[in-house]
Amino acid sequence: MAGNRTFTMIKPDAVENGHIGAILAMINNAGFRIVSMKMTQLSKRDAEEFYAIHKERPFFGELVEYMTSGPIVSAILEKDNAVADFRTLIGATNPAEAAEGTIRKLYATDISANAVHGSDSDENAAIEGAFHFSGRENF
Ligand code: RTP
Ligand code: MG
Repeated sequence: MAGNRTFTMIKPDAVENGHIGAILAMINNAGFRIVSMKMTQLSKRDAEEFYAIHKERPFFGELVEYMTSGPIVSAILEKDNAVADFRTLIGATNPAEAAEGTIRKLYATDISANAVHGSDSDENAAIEGAFHFSGRENF
């Protein structure tokens, strides 16, 4: 088997700030294969559904507003141990607490506008990939 899969989004702040290329280079250099990739903009309904697990959290409204504020780049990635290794590559949710050399440390704006998403389990990686990609794109 070629490896496990995870799902990522380059979030609106990182797209707006011109970091798509640098972030994709870090993803490639860390050994991930890009399986599928596209640029889209989430509707309010899309963002509410994608982050439904957080709907009772105090930051939910801010999160939905932010995630719909501009285009994102979504991608399915493949590598051995993809979910955990990608979480290591992106760093802590709050960039102020993210390790040196991580994507969030280098490119995130703040705890809300934190440059990238990474799936938190194999199960959610599959659900999130299927949410963003159709059968014709999900190779
Ligand atoms: P993600 O799901 O986007 O990869 O981020 P994560 O696992 O590191 O963090 P999670 O707890 O799942 O939170 C999802 C996203 O909600 C925003 N957030 N804002 N203002 C706040 O206190 C706060 N906390 C979380 C961030 O955009 C976070 O990535
Ligand atoms: Mg999460």
